[in-house]
Amino acid sequence: MPDDANDLAAEVWPASAARDADGTLILAGIRATDLAHTYGTPLLVLDEDEVRRRARTLRAAFDTAAAEHGTTVRVYYAGKAFLSTAVARWVVEEGLSVDVCTRGELEVALAAGVAPSSIGFHGNNKSVSELRRAVEVGVGTIIVDSAIEIERLAAITAPADAVQRVMVRVISGVHAETHDFLATAHEDQKFGFPLADAEAAVTRIREIPGLEFVGLHCHIGSQIFGVAGFRESASRLLELHAALLADGPVRQLNLGGGFGIAYTSADDPTPIAELAAGIVAAVAEGCAARGIPVPALSFEPGRAIVGTAGVTLYEVGTTKDVTVESGASRLYVSVDGGMSDNARPALYGAQFSARLASRTGVDAPRLSRVVGKHCESGDIVVDHEYLPGDVAPGDLLAVPATGAYCASLASNYNHVPRPPVIAVHGGKATVIVRGESIDDLLARDTGVHAEEPSEGAQ
Ligand code: LLP
Repeated sequence: MPDDANDLAAEVWPASAARDADGTLILAGIRATDLAHTYGTPLLVLDEDEVRRRARTLRAAFDTAAAEHGTTVRVYYAGKAFLSTAVARWVVEEGLSVDVCTRGELEVALAAGVAPSSIGFHGNNKSVSELRRAVEVGVGTIIVDSAIEIERLAAITAPADAVQRVMVRVISGVHAETHDFLATAHEDQKFGFPLADAEAAVTRIREIPGLEFVGLHCHIGSQIFGVAGFRESASRLLELHAALLADGPVRQLNLGGGFGIAYTSADDPTPIAELAAGIVAAVAEGCAARGIPVPALSFEPGRAIVGTAGVTLYEVGTTKDVTVESGASRLYVSVDGGMSDNARPALYGAQFSARLASRTGVDAPRLSRVVGKHCESGDIVVDHEYLPGDVAPGDLLAVPATGAYCASLASNYNHVPRPPVIAVHGGKATVIVRGESIDDLLARDTGVHAEEPSEGAQ
C-alpha cells in the first residue's frame, strides 16, 4: 500500500508529467482535463520531447560505447511499437533509422519522408509484392528470414541493375525473458534461420548477383532487463560471423531490440548507458577472442523509445465493490476503453499502473482493478493498483507507459472506435492520428447503405 496514491513515479511517466496547483495532471504543460475536453476519451497522449530525448539518449549511449571499441552503431526505431509519420520524423531528426516489418509500416515511413536507404525491412512472410516494393524504392537493408525469401529476392533483383543489401536473421537459441534468460539449443519459433542452417543461406546469397550479404541479425525477445542475454546471443552469432569471414566480407552485426522499460514502479530496467556499454563491450570481447575486427553494429529498440512517452486518459464510468473469496473486497473501476486500446494485459498478462488525472484523491488508497468496457472478463487495463478510495464516475484516470504496443495493437472489438493519438509539446497539442468515429465503423459494413425493402415488397 503506497503512502500516497497520487504520486507520479518518475520512471513510468514522461519527464514533463506533474500536477497543477489544484492536483490536475499536466503533460508537456497541458492539463489532462483540457486534453480530455478537447479530444474526448479514451485518448493516447504522446510526449514529443520524451520520444526525442529517449531516441537521443539511446543514440548517444551507443555512439559512445562504439567509439570506445573502434566501431560505429546505427540505431533503428522499431516502428511496430508505434508508427505514424510524426513519430518517424521525430526519430529521424534525432539521428535514428527506421525498422519496418510490413508494406503498411514501410508506406508510413516513406510517407514521412524517411530516406529509403535508412530503412530496414523485417518479416517472416514478406510477400513478393512487398519485396518488390522494397527493392524498387531502395530500402537500405532487407533482413531475410527464409530460403524461399532469398529466391524471391533473387528473382526480383535479376532484371534490375540495383544490388539489394541483405542481412540474415538467425535464431541464436537464446530466449530472453524479463529479468532472466534461458538458453535453449533448439528454439522452436517462426523467425529466422536456425544457426545450423544460416551458413548455407549466406552461401546462397553470395551466389546471387543482385544481393549483397552484409551481416547477421538476431532479436532475442522483448522487455529484456540486463545484458546477459545479449552477451550470450552475440557470442553465438560471432562464432558464425567469424566462420563467414573466410569466404567474404561480413561488415555488420545487428543484435535487435528488446530493451525493457518500467511499466510500474516495481520494474527496474538497466539504464541505457549501462546496457549500451555492456553489450558493445561483450561484442568487442567476442571479436578479440576470435581475432576478428569489430563489425559495424545496429540495434532496433521500439518500446524503449516510445513506451514511457505515452499516457492513456480514460474517463471513469462506474465503480463497484466486489467481494472476493477471502471476504475482502476489491474496487472495480470501469473506464471507457479497454482491451481495444490496450490489449497487452489480456495478451501477455502485462502490468500497468494508474493515477487519478483530473484531481488528487483524498480518501485512503484502496486496492482497485481498472477494467474496460468490453464484453469479456479478461478486459483488464490495470490488474491491481492502489487508487484513492474516493475515485468516482466522471474522474479522469491516466495509465502511463502506454506509448508502445498499445495503439499499434488496437482493435475495433465490440465495434469500439480506436482513439486518437495526440502529440504534446511545449504547451501545444496536435492530433497525429485522428480517432475513429462510429461512421468510420459503419463505412466498412457494405449492408449499411443497402436499399431498404420498400413497404409491401416480398
Ligand atoms: N526488432 C525485431 C526484429 C522485433 O521483432 C522487435 C519486436 C523489435 C526489434 C522491437 O522490440 P522492442 O525494443 O520494442 O521490445 N507486442 C509485444 C511486443 C512484441 C515485440 C515484437 N518484436 C508487447 O506488447 O510486449
